[in-house]
This record gives sequence, structure tokens and C-alpha cells, in this order.
Amino acid sequence: MSTTSLPHPATQAQKSNDPLRLIDVDFVRFYVGNAKQAAYFYAQSFGFEIEQISDLTTGSRDQATYLLTQGNIRFLLTTGLHKDHPAQQEVGLYGDGIKDIAFTVEDSTAAYEQALKNGAQSAYEPVTLSDSRGTVVMSGIKTFGRTIHSFVSRSGDYVLERVKRGDQFMPKYASTGDLAINAYNRSNPVGLFYVDHCVGNVELGKMNYWVQWYEDVLGFKLFKHFDDKDISTEYSALMSKVMDSGRELIKIPINEPAHGKKKSQIQEYLEWHNNTPGIQHLALLTKDELHTVARLRQRGVDFLRIPDTYYETVWDRVGEIKEDVDVVKDLRLLVDRDDKGYLLQIFTKPLQDRPTLFFEIICRRGSESFGKGNFKALFESLELEQERRGNL
Ligand code: FE2
Repeated sequence: MSTTSLPHPATQAQKSNDPLRLIDVDFVRFYVGNAKQAAYFYAQSFGFEIEQISDLTTGSRDQATYLLTQGNIRFLLTTGLHKDHPAQQEVGLYGDGIKDIAFTVEDSTAAYEQALKNGAQSAYEPVTLSDSRGTVVMSGIKTFGRTIHSFVSRSGDYVLERVKRGDQFMPKYASTGDLAINAYNRSNPVGLFYVDHCVGNVELGKMNYWVQWYEDVLGFKLFKHFDDKDISTEYSALMSKVMDSGRELIKIPINEPAHGKKKSQIQEYLEWHNNTPGIQHLALLTKDELHTVARLRQRGVDFLRIPDTYYETVWDRVGEIKEDVDVVKDLRLLVDRDDKGYLLQIFTKPLQDRPTLFFEIICRRGSESFGKGNFKALFESLELEQERRGNL
């Protein structure tokens, strides 16, 4: 993967016969209780620009959505404006969380029809959003639990290259103007670049079902497999298989709870998510973990606490790295190595009141894996938090 330019460029010139060729992650949509306030949380804590808005002032009568951007990450924070809007109902069931991992495709309708042929269930039929600038077509399929994948195709002024340069996102969106928080974030960049992976938690016994689903419906390939011998501590256990979209677009690990002495962290998630599968974490990639995490700590982001003892053995396991090891310890980063290189990572505490969604901040120095060597230290830290919540 290139380290000098943004990955996954969507170029209109690349035509393909495969309607499910995924060009980019178009956006990640969150359903939240109050999009206006959530926008400021993600902008202040994680350095996102609150770039555009779609609400009553832009002609959106049933929902308010904020487009937050950083690098090639586009978050949509959506709140329903009446009680029957699905976002309002889902916030009641699940709290704030991720609803949609949306992919840019050449032809949304063709992608949708092919996905249904491949065995997917419809979330919503193709919808055409059009104005004098251009057209966006959106359709969606259901994946695990409350989560969906939208297919987004764009033409006219709404092509993704232009959106990436700051042009209008879709019909009924408008620039937020000159917000002070955006000016601050431009002069104090956090340095997040794209969504490296996106992890789903599913019910006991359902991991293989969803692995097969990603193979059959979207043509993903199995990338890595961890079982409960890899990922267990005295108490908390899980199994995980990593699905890969190919073309360095996105990886989707699927976790299911495994039996341990006490409650699996996956089980805790499910119980606070209306016993419904959903997204557990998004890993956001930085090219400079020390810079990014120092900035995030200054901004008050709450990370899982890693004990001093972790740093007594980590360098024997990982060997030399180019970062300053004292700073790595000060920032409480986790480090792991595989046959291709190493990675640095750190995990936030839950981003809302329920112990559900969190973020990982990851920097890859060649490594293509997920920090298997850190699972034990990480889960012990997670269990301390579970215990504090009375959920172990
Ligand atoms: Fe992760």
C-alpha cells in the first residue's frame, strides 16, 4: 500500500464487468440520538472536519445528517426528525452506533441486483437522488444484525473524486461554512487516513455463516482465522475470522463469543445491543501512531489502560522498531510483529454510554495482521473495564 498518497482512488476510467466491484468505502453511517452534538464530539475528540450538513435548512424534512471527513474517511451522523424514523427507533434499541458501511460502485442498481442474486436480503430498493448538479443512486442489503451495506453510484458533479476535494456530497447537502472547530482541526491535524478494518460481532455459532455470506454475496476472501486458543484469557474468549474485500479496500473481521470462565466481551456487547449483532469497532489508520495518539490524548480521548508489565516483555517479542520506545510506553501503545513487519495500535473505551462501539487507531509498518500478540494484554485490560461496569 502506498504511503505517500491516499489509497483506493475511484477512477471513472476503470470499468469492470463485475457489478460488485467495490471502488471505495463511500461512507460509514452512524445512527445517533443527536447528530448536531455527536458531530462536535467526533470533531473535537478525533479531529474530523464537520464539512457538510443535510437538515431542515437544506430541504431534508425527515432526518438531519452531518458529513464528517478526515483523510479518506467519511462519516455520516444521522438523527431522525420524527418518532417513526428508523434512526430514532434504532437509537432506542441499540444506542448510538454504526448502521451502514457503504461502498461506492459503478452502478448501484446492478450491484444491488447481483447481490440479491448471490443470496443477499434487501435493506432498501434503489433510490435516485437527483438535482441540477448530478445524480446519486443508493440501494442497500442487510448484513449481520442491524447492519447494512449500501451501494452508492455517483455521476455529474457528485462523483467521488469531487466529493473528496470538498464538493457537495449529495443533493440536499450544504457546506457548514466557517466553523471554528474546523479551523482548529486544520491547524492541529490528527492524521487519520482511512478505515483499515471494521469488525462485526455476531451471535454464538454464527461466525461461519457470515464468513460464507461475505464470500457468496460480495466475493470477499477469508484472510485470517483466530480461534479461542489465540484469543482467550482466563475469562473472556472469542473466535474471529477476517474477511478481505481485495484491492486493499477494507477488511471485515467477524467475531463470535467463545465459552470462557466468565462473560465474553462479545456477549457483553450483544447484551447491550438488544441481543443483536452489529459493528464492534472501526480501525482508523494513521501513518504516524505517535503523533496521532499524542494529539488524541491532548484532546481527551479515553483509551484502554495497558499495564506497565506489558512493556517489560514486549520488546523481546517484537524486536526493534523505528519509533522511540519510551514514547511508545508513555503513550501506552500496543506493538506486534508478524512475518511481514510490525504494527502499532491502541483502543478507545466505548464512544457512547453503552459498552458497544469503540475505535482502534492503527499504524502498519509492513504488518498485515491485527495484533494477535496483544490479544492477551488487551483482553485483560478490557476485562478490568467490564468488571467496573458490573458486566463480567
Ligand atoms: Fe481491530
